[in-house]
Amino acid sequence: MFETTLLAGKNILITGGGTGLGRVMALRFAELGARVAVLGRRPEPLAEVVQQIEAQGREAMAVCADVRDAARVSSAVDEIVARFGTLDVLVNNAAGNFLALTETLSPNAFNAVVGIVLNGTFHCTSAVGKHMIAQGKGGCILNIVATYAWTGAAYVVPSVCAKAGVLAMTRSLAVEWGRYRIRLNAIAPGPFPTEGAWSRLMLPGMEEEGKRRNPTGRFGEPPELANLAAYLISDAASYINGECVTIDGGEWLMGQSFNTLTMLPRDQFQALAEALRPRKSD
Ligand code: HXC
Repeated sequence: MFETTLLAGKNILITGGGTGLGRVMALRFAELGARVAVLGRRPEPLAEVVQQIEAQGREAMAVCADVRDAARVSSAVDEIVARFGTLDVLVNNAAGNFLALTETLSPNAFNAVVGIVLNGTFHCTSAVGKHMIAQGKGGCILNIVATYAWTGAAYVVPSVCAKAGVLAMTRSLAVEWGRYRIRLNAIAPGPFPTEGAWSRLMLPGMEEEGKRRNPTGRFGEPPELANLAAYLISDAASYINGECVTIDGGEWLMGQSFNTLTMLPRDQFQALAEALRPRKSD
């Protein structure tokens, strides 16, 4: 659907690029001519993505970092700039999430998710933004949020708070950094089956119910999201700034799907959510 040169000449950093939607975006962007750096906590999935991209005859690099660690993020960005020369695009995709009764959350549990999603996005945006401003050639930052950033949603409150903050950051910096020709936009995906999200958020029975209550009768396919992201970071979208594009088949207009879980008795919800929680030995 695009010219294979759509992203030619662009150097792109994708956080959480080793798995899930981050991985699909990394592969798609490389296919469209970009040089891609994938950042994540675990080296193995990152190395696999790099290998896949190199097998297409494109250039990629892996950088191990936890987005919660501002100093490490800053040195990771320096490493990428040292190898690629410039950074033109940042995709803040790294996320953390789980289902829980909010009154049972420890401060550390809240901080774990907000630390990855909100603080992590700030750390990456700040490090890359400084570089883009100094570089003087503009740039583009794309943040992956969720429709519950504006609706709210039961049982995923740390993620809701963090995504709402990221959306606010997107709109604020779209104005503040416009003078540097840095565009900031967001994508709010609905349900896209990925191992990371499904293993933490999909209770038994939710899958069929989720399709039934989606106006399109299905979940999203990761390439659909990757193509939207490719368009938004490309020069074809050069006048789109401060926007959030929803890609959910119209799901949120039917009511936030996590809210339907409030129909379950509390104890039943808790038992099901606990069953999804990884054991320390996993
Ligand atoms: C309650 C939990 C919990 C759970 C962890 N905690 N899991 N509390 N229910 N299921 C608590 C722990 O007890 C601990 O608090 C604190 O959170 C930190 O836990 P750790 O396991 O030590 O943290 P860490 O190893 O850093 O892992 C972070 C994580 C984990 C967020 C908890 O899930 C993670 O790494 N996720 C990354 C990938 C991911 O989540 N992907 C899905 C994104 S999906 P205490 O007090 O005990 O120390 C997404 C889609 C949204 O965002 C859109 C949907 C439509």
